[in-house]
Order: sequence, then C-alpha cells, then structure tokens
Amino acid sequence: MPNEKHKLRSADWFGRTDKSGFIHRSWMKIEGVPDHEFDGRPVIGICNTWSELTPCNSHFRELADMVKHGVYEAGGFPLEFPVTSLGEPMMRPTTMLFRNLASMDVEETIRANPLDGVVLLAGCDKTTPSTVMGAISVDLPTIVVSGGPMLNGKFQGRDIGSGTDVWRFSEDRRAGRMSCEDFSLAEAGMSRSHGHCMTMGTASTMACMVEALGLTLPGGAAIPAADARRRNLAHLAGNRIVDMVREDLRISQILTREAFENSIVVNAAIGGSTNLLIHLLALAGRAGVPLELDDFDRLGSHQPLLLNLMPSGKYLMEDFYYAGGLPVILRELGDRLHENAITVNGRSIGENSATAVRYGDDVIATMEKPLQEEAGIAVLRGNLCEDGALIKPSAATPELMQHRGKAVVFEDIEDYNARIDDPNLEVDESSVLVLKQVGPKGYPGMAEVGNMGLPAKLLEKGVEDMVRISDGRMSGTAFGTVVLHVSPESAIGGNLALVQEGDEIELDVKGRTLSLDVSEEELSRRRAAWQPEPSPTDRGYVRLYIEHVQQAHLGADFDFLVGKSGSVVTRDAH
Ligand code: FES
Repeated sequence: MPNEKHKLRSADWFGRTDKSGFIHRSWMKIEGVPDHEFDGRPVIGICNTWSELTPCNSHFRELADMVKHGVYEAGGFPLEFPVTSLGEPMMRPTTMLFRNLASMDVEETIRANPLDGVVLLAGCDKTTPSTVMGAISVDLPTIVVSGGPMLNGKFQGRDIGSGTDVWRFSEDRRAGRMSCEDFSLAEAGMSRSHGHCMTMGTASTMACMVEALGLTLPGGAAIPAADARRRNLAHLAGNRIVDMVREDLRISQILTREAFENSIVVNAAIGGSTNLLIHLLALAGRAGVPLELDDFDRLGSHQPLLLNLMPSGKYLMEDFYYAGGLPVILRELGDRLHENAITVNGRSIGENSATAVRYGDDVIATMEKPLQEEAGIAVLRGNLCEDGALIKPSAATPELMQHRGKAVVFEDIEDYNARIDDPNLEVDESSVLVLKQVGPKGYPGMAEVGNMGLPAKLLEKGVEDMVRISDGRMSGTAFGTVVLHVSPESAIGGNLALVQEGDEIELDVKGRTLSLDVSEEELSRRRAAWQPEPSPTDRGYVRLYIEHVQQAHLGADFDFLVGKSGSVVTRDAH
C-alpha cells in the first residue's frame, strides 16, 4: 500500500529516479520482484537464524514463509536474509564467545539495507539476545518470532526434559546407575520434534524474556514449534510488523526501563535461567536503559515461583502452553508488573493478559499459593566477588544455601577434567568446588561449565549436590547450589584467582554474601605473586573478543558496542 504517512527509509533506495535507484531496483528484479513492490510500501526484513548447524532453528525457513505471507497480506514487501546462527549443542568452545559477533552481523546487515522494519526469527539460546541486541542498536520497528519449544521428551513411559535430564543421566552413568543402552534410548527420545529445549532453560527463558519485554505478540513464548499455532503466530507477526512501520513504533519505544523491570519479575516467577542476567544487561546497555546487577536482586529475588517447570519443577514447555502460557503468569503477577508497558501489538502488557485463562492448577500456581515464596535470582557480594556473583535459589539445595567449607580448587577446565574423578582427590560433601579461568576473558567466552559434575566417588556415595563456585555460567537447564558469574573474573586477577586449596569459603545466600576467609594481608601477598595466563591467540575475532569483552556484571558485551548508532546511512554505494 503506497502513500505511507511518513517517509520510509527504503524510499531512499527504491524511490529514487537516479542511477542508484536504477541499481537497487534492477538487481532486485533478478529475484522476479515486480515493479509494484517498489511503490513505497514498507520493506520488511526477515532476519533468519536458520542453520542446519543450529538444529533448534531448523524449521525457520517454514516460519519465514509464514511471516512473508503475513507481510504480503498487510501490504508490505518482505525480504528474508540470513545472519550468523549460533547452535548451542554444536559450537566450541562456547556459543557465548560469538554472541556479540552475531549481534554485529545483525546490526550492520539491518542498517546497510533498505529495510523499514524487521522480524527477528530466533530460538536457540544465543540467537535471541544476539538478534535483539543488533536490532536495538539500529532502532527500527522490530518484532520477535521465537521458534517455540520441542514437544516433551519421552523415555520409558515418562517425560524427560532437554538438558535437565541429560545432566541427571550423565551423573547416573558416571555412578554406574544407568546402562549404555538406556542412555542411548534416552538420547533418541529427548529431541523428537522441531524446536528449542523444552525445559525452562535459556532458550525458553529468552522466549519468555522477549514476550515480557513486549517484543512478541501475546502468548508467543510457549507455543510448541510443532504446533500449527506457531506458524499462525508467524503469519500474524508478518501482518503486524507492517502496521508497526506505518505507526513508526520503534523498538526503543517498547524497551523502556519499565519493560526491563517486567522481564526481571517475570523471570523470577517462571524460574528462568541465570543467563537472563547477562543477556538482559547487554540489551539494556544497547538500549541506553540504566540497569544493574543489584536491580535483579531488588526486583526479582522476592518474587514467588509460579511455574512448575524443569529445572526448578517437574513439567515442560508443552504443558505450560496447554495450561495457558505466559499470559497467565502475567495476569497472576498483576500490579507487580508495570501493566501499562506497551508491546508490539500497540496494547499494554496488562491489556494483553487481562483475559488469560489458567487450565488446571498444577503447572501454573497462583499468587495465593505459589510453588516457592521467594524464587528470583540472588546477587551475592563479598571479597570473593567484589563486583557481584549470582545463584538461582529455586534450582539449589535449601540446606546448602548457608554453608562453610574448604575449597577444592581447579585452576582451569583441563585441571578439573583431569582430577575430578581421581580417587585420591581430597574432597568430601562439605567441600566447596572452585573452578577458575572460565569467565568472559578466561575461557574465553564464559562457558556453561559452572554446574561442574560432582566427583565420581561422592556420586557413588549418593551425594547429589555440593556448593560450586566459578566465574562461568551454567546452562539454564541445569540445577544445583552453583554460584556463577563471579566478577571480576579470575583471568583478570579477581580474588577468585587467589583462592588456594583448603581455604575456607562461606556462602550465605540469605545474607547475600560470598566470602573467602583469608586475611587481606595474605590476599595482598598472593596478589603480588599472581600472573595472568598468556592469551590463547594474538589474532582474529578471539583477540578482539578478549580485548573488548566487558565483565559479567556489565553483560559481557563489547565495550565499543554499548549504545546504538541508529538507522541512518548517509553515503551511497555507487
Ligand atoms: Fe538450542 Fe537448547 S540447545 S535451545
């Protein structure tokens, strides 16, 4: 539909009668595009993270087609483009190393091209934050379509959850409780449809995060990838983005401080991943919204747990959808949210969830009878984490939330792998496992190894949890009394680097402290003798990453990517 109210940026490509206009239109005609697509209608980019190396996003070509139907139907002109896709189960040393790289790809591709609005197709863990980070820095009308979770895993007559049951089965194998044949059967039954991990792991957390931020159509987070309503949602998103362009409803108008606060509260209520913190901090940095680690504790830690999903509970995303999905949680939270926060459909989050209906009372609890009274992520301070660390109480063992024990120290992941199952390792269930060099610069990439497996000899004794501390992250599907994101990290000489075997460490989650019981004089002595590890490379992207990545408490974005540059490009190509 031509004659838009405001001048579209695509008109500066396709609406010109000069040489540049000729070039832009003529080469698009290679794709069979007829003249009327250049009549001034909104041009919608469909940013696709499809890849066969990202199995969780392997259905995205079909989703993109549904978005295109919606865009055409609403009078827009859709153009799909690929961006860097980050496959969590495949990439080494960790996808987090590449999140910022992928975000740069998204940002520069959007800005460099004749796009008026963007639909982001994201699913697997890092594909959501990377695409949204990039889109924020350009600031066009933007809508997210998440890929949806897999159907529930099935094994020997029961439901099994991505990740969460892998960690269990793996410990069972190491303890000799599970046969190799059963391990293989579980592998086949776990990932049996399109979609991302169906526990409340990082991908589901990210899907809920973007819905709570107002970046998706209502109810979008929980619809299984295999459900036809997921494709319907993609079609409707295609409809809606065209109107968002006409209304000039840009992502910066949705991502307000209130929207970020809503996301923190919702994450507590759903038992979401600790990875939310690092990604939300990075998004806020791009958006220019002030947000700090302590905001998560202040706003989230006293919120109740309302969702009974693995790893904090027992159900899976498919069950969540049938029970009513995220709108029920939003309605339950009521005025704990900023209900007037605007969303991509132009209505507020309160309006969108006002009529949500809960089906059954086992999957989604009520505010009157929550699953836990206080479930949000707790932020710890102390001489072991001067810029903060965090723990997810809903996935931890209550008896270990206040604990004092002697450190068993692993200098890096190789040291851990070499010694954890050594029968002579001096460790018992009261020990505190400490892992260094797994932070942003140290790994590099801040790997999800913080939920390090327990020593085999303790597993054989039936020990199921111990206090573990690192500067790394853990998978959102994981569980345990695991202190993560210690900042400053060991690789830059944070006090974590100075911990020695046998040092006493005290964790007090209620008091929000993590303390190394070593005198300041002794720490100074150790600090003077400390030497950083040599950089693993002097070239390429990894060098750029190590030189510019910020610490975990700042969201681990590159220092030079914070903020946005807008969508204006002043120079022509020809
Ligand atoms: Fe892709 Fe879990 S591995 S979402």
